[in-house]
Amino acid sequence: MSDHTTSVVDVRDLVIEFDTPRGRSRVVDEVSFSVSPGEVLGILGESGSGKTMSTQALLGLIDGYPGVMGGQIDLTFQGERHSLLSELPHFLFEKRGQLEKQERGWRKHRFKAMASLWGRGATAIFQNPRRSLDPLMTVGQQVLESITAREAHKPDDTKLNKEAQSIEALEWLERVKMVNPKRVFGSYPHELSGGMCQRAMIAVALACKPSVLIADEPTTGLDATVRAQVVHLLQDLIRDERCAMLYITHDIREMLYLADRVIVMRHGKVLERVSTEDLKDRSSERHPYTRTLLEAAGMIGGDNE
Ligand SMILES: Nc1ncnc2c1ncn2[C@@H]1O[C@H](COP(=O)(O)OP(=O)(O)OP(=O)(O)O)[C@@H](O)[C@H]1O
Ligand SMILES: [Mg+2]
Repeated sequence: MSDHTTSVVDVRDLVIEFDTPRGRSRVVDEVSFSVSPGEVLGILGESGSGKTMSTQALLGLIDGYPGVMGGQIDLTFQGERHSLLSELPHFLFEKRGQLEKQERGWRKHRFKAMASLWGRGATAIFQNPRRSLDPLMTVGQQVLESITAREAHKPDDTKLNKEAQSIEALEWLERVKMVNPKRVFGSYPHELSGGMCQRAMIAVALACKPSVLIADEPTTGLDATVRAQVVHLLQDLIRDERCAMLYITHDIREMLYLADRVIVMRHGKVLERVSTEDLKDRSSERHPYTRTLLEAAGMIGGDNE
């Protein structure tokens, strides 16, 4: 179980709002969650419930207006706890106005703020991995770029040299179980299958040695065998790296297999927090909405409950 002393991610009362033609809409409404090293927190919920927005906030990737309106996001990396919304005010709407006056636009600053996070705090993998990879760079170069970004934050005397970085990049392609890692190293994303692209993305994301990996529907769009391989791979690597993972999927079976705990979201709110063990237990009490999700996935039957 995660608590505030051991967690690497601690999100409290996060509020995200967007202006729409129908007025201001609160898409994330006082959401709180935390996750510890090596732990997998699953996020379940229907489409539009705020799963992606709640996790994107950790990466400073909320683009809509006004975006993050409040709350606290604490992220621990390299042994230090960082309060993102106060240290990196570019993540937070209310500071943007001031920054726009002082500087040349908050986007540039947000980019700088994010660059300081890359390779240290949070990284992410998404569905459609081919789109997340750079089409003009080889897979090897992209993994290497993650390692170089990570090493850039280290004191000079502990930095890996170029050769050691290249060796590590190749090792990552072996760790994500590429069939021919040497060939893949020099391949471009368009030369790889969807499953191989997702393995490459996992290598790019984890080579940064993040405290937390955000996996937002990473298996959507892959065929069943490849999905299972990616899920097993993530489970092994998260354990080996002692990295925390926020895992979003619509596949409840996948969720039950991977997650230690699950939060269930609807209309931007967390409705229920439950351990995976309890979720599997057909006799335990569930929020009616969680029951609906389990029923829809055929995990529980309407009659015998
Ligand atoms: N830039 C934006 N402007 C306005 N509304 C937005 C914007 N981005 C997202 N939203 C809305 O925010 C809500 C939450 O979106 P989010 O992407 O977090 O949902 P989700 O739970 O990840 O859904 P899915 O399962 O379909 O991925 C949705 O209603 C979405 O339409
Ligand atoms: Mg989403």
